[in-house]
Formats: sequence, C-alpha cells, structure tokens
Amino acid sequence: MFKTIKNINNLDDLQKLYSDTFGKNGTMAVRLKEMKSLNDAERVVLNKEKDEFQNAFKARQTELEDAAMMESLAPEKIDTTRTPAPTPIGKIHPLTKILADIGRIFEGMGYVQAAGPEIETDWYCFDALNIPPYHPARDMHDTFFLNGIENVMRTHTSGIQIREMEKHGVPVKIFAPGAVYRKEMDATHTPMFYQYEGLVIDKNITFANLISEIKIFFEKVFDSKEIELRIRPSYFPFTEPSIEVDIEWDKTTGRPSKNTGVWIEMGGAGMVHPNVLRNAGVDPTKYQGFAFGQGLERLAMLKYGVNDMRKFYDGDIRWLEANGF
Ligand code: DAH
Repeated sequence: MFKTIKNINNLDDLQKLYSDTFGKNGTMAVRLKEMKSLNDAERVVLNKEKDEFQNAFKARQTELEDAAMMESLAPEKIDTTRTPAPTPIGKIHPLTKILADIGRIFEGMGYVQAAGPEIETDWYCFDALNIPPYHPARDMHDTFFLNGIENVMRTHTSGIQIREMEKHGVPVKIFAPGAVYRKEMDATHTPMFYQYEGLVIDKNITFANLISEIKIFFEKVFDSKEIELRIRPSYFPFTEPSIEVDIEWDKTTGRPSKNTGVWIEMGGAGMVHPNVLRNAGVDPTKYQGFAFGQGLERLAMLKYGVNDMRKFYDGDIRWLEANGF
C-alpha cells in the first residue's frame, strides 16, 4: 500500500486512491467500522495503521503539490549567473564637484561649513548687513520678493554671517556655500546661482590676513603657485574697507599665470563693518575680522574650462557627459 501511494504521480490518482481507502465503503473505512468488535490490542494496531496511511497520503500530496508549483514557476526562473547589461554610470556635475572641492579646501584651512535658509527675511538679507533701504540690491528689478515675514529669496549668502555670529558667537571662522536668487538672465547670469561666503572674526584679525587667506585659497583651488592677486578698492555696505579681487590669467592655457596683464574678477571682500558686528550682537571694539564672497559657477567655469553659464542648469545629459567628472 505505501509503495502504491509513493508511486502515484498525479493528484487526481492520489485523490482516487484516498477515496477507495477512506471514502464510503473504502477498504480502510470498512475495517474502521468494525473497530467495535476488536480487542484493545487490535484497536491500537488498526489505529496505528490508519494514521500511517493518512500520513503517507498527506506526504505524497505535499510532494505532488510542490512539484506542480515548481513546474508552473519554471518559466519565471531568473538566471542569476547571467552577466547583467552594463548600468549607465552618471557623471558628477561641475557645480557638485566645485562644491566638494572648495569644501575640502576650506576645511583644510580650518573653516567650518555653515548654511542658512534660501527664503530669508530682509533683516538678514539686507538690514543687518547695513544695506540701506535705498540700495539697488533692494530694488524690485534685482530681488524676488515674497509675501510673508520671510519675504525675499536671498540675493546673496552674506546673511549667513549674521546668523552664524548670533548662533555661535565669536570667534568664528566659517564658509557657507549655497544657492542665491536674482532677477537676471543672460550668458553670464541665471536667476539662481551659487555663492560661497567666508567669515573670520577674532581679536587680532587684519586686512593682511584677508589677503593671505584669499591667496592661499586660490593656490589650492587652482593647484598653482602662480597666483597673482590684484586688489581694487570697492564698496559693499557690510564691509569697510571693501575690495574686489582679481587674479592674473593666461587665456591660452586657461590657468592662473603671472605677467600676462589679463585680470579676471573673482569676488568681493573686506573688513566686516562695525554695524554688522553690532547687529549680530558682537562688540566691534573687541572683535574684528573679514568676509569674502564669490560666485561658484564662475569659479567652476575657470577651473574646469566651461563657457556658457546657462548650461549648468539646462539639464542636458550630453553636456554633462562632456563636462562632468
Ligand atoms: N554678497 C556680495 C555679493 O553678492 C559678495 C560679497 C562681497 C560678500 C563682499 C562678502 C564681502 O562677504 O565681504 O555680491
């Protein structure tokens, strides 16, 4: 009997044998009906036989069901040994790259990375930075204004100076990269672009420290000892004195170079205005320092030889293929 069960190869036949055995008038059913007339020992034997049969049926049923399931799944089998088609590997956007590069450089120079909100109050964006109401930066033509207390898209990262001094006090030595927004659009301007801000405040910080930090930074950015700075007097409401910094450039090699007579504007800087320190809760009779800021696209364009700034934001995969890392 057990052998017969084992040899059955489909569920219908198994079901039939089960009915012939345990169903009405089945061989086993008939014997079970006579249980009453058996003595104890015979009953134990019969019960055991009944259980063994049922177990054997059950076991074969499971085997056959499993086999049927495996057969139905066979076409869906995944061949894990097959070599997958190569996944296209993306490239790192020049902006992402420059952000990572300057982050590493500033941290190496002892600056701590900071950040601030892109939707800003005009206190942090303008007033606290000593930017008067009549300053052109507050003109509708330059600034995206919003309805609400935080009512501008920040036009520069300089507001982070105030936020950082308020949050952590002084001394402070931070750099803060981030997106900024202005209403402008041409080959060298986009309505959103990136800047970084630098701020160093302590008891004995001088203009000489500012110049030396800028020089060291550009030496590291361009991996060059050929950095020649040109410092021009300028005006920013939040620094006094204020300067603009150019570096001397070789257009044929696309690298910094001395004695070419070609100067490229890099960014603004200066000694932080006493009003700015006061607005951030810092005593300007005890502390002083410098700040600097620059557009990051400009830096990426110079460093990696990219020309049209709008391409940074086109989302053109072919451009990224050619200019990414
Ligand atoms: N915030 C200025 C701008 O957007 C750049 C700048 C100039 C930042 C001078 C500074 C600075 O920290 O000292 O044009």
